[in-house]
Amino acid sequence: MKLLVLNGPNLNLLGTREPGIYGSQTFEDYFNNLTQKFSEVALSYKQSNHEGELVTIIQQADGVYDGVVLNAAAYTHTSVAIGDAIKAVGVPVVEVHISNTFAREAFRHNSFISPNAKGVILGFGLQSYDLAIQSFL
Ligand code: DQA
Repeated sequence: MKLLVLNGPNLNLLGTREPGIYGSQTFEDYFNNLTQKFSEVALSYKQSNHEGELVTIIQQADGVYDGVVLNAAAYTHTSVAIGDAIKAVGVPVVEVHISNTFAREAFRHNSFISPNAKGVILGFGLQSYDLAIQSFL
């Protein structure tokens, strides 16, 4: 099984970004734990702060990966283009969020990803990624 973990804008700052909401572990460190825990899975990790680049990565994931674990971060709430990209390809996408977006500001309650995602996991901290990977197994 080949899975891509794809993070959107500002998630490269995990560890120092709003630790009260997102915790104090870097994603690289957490991803290292994931690769050890799921040693039977070929896990790849990409991150971009650019909407178009995220669209391109999703397009290119089709036929290459068995699934994508996507945290589109703030683009979740704004990006028709990322939602359309998921709809356009066959690779299943599981949407994840570290925080419970429904317990936060109203603008975080809408997602352009969810209607096109296989499922959504949110609010479990970094463990949301772990649960998303398990959903593919
Ligand atoms: C987030 C939630 C988004 O609302 C926010 O813009 C992020 C991170 C999360 O993982 O909780 O950057 O996707």
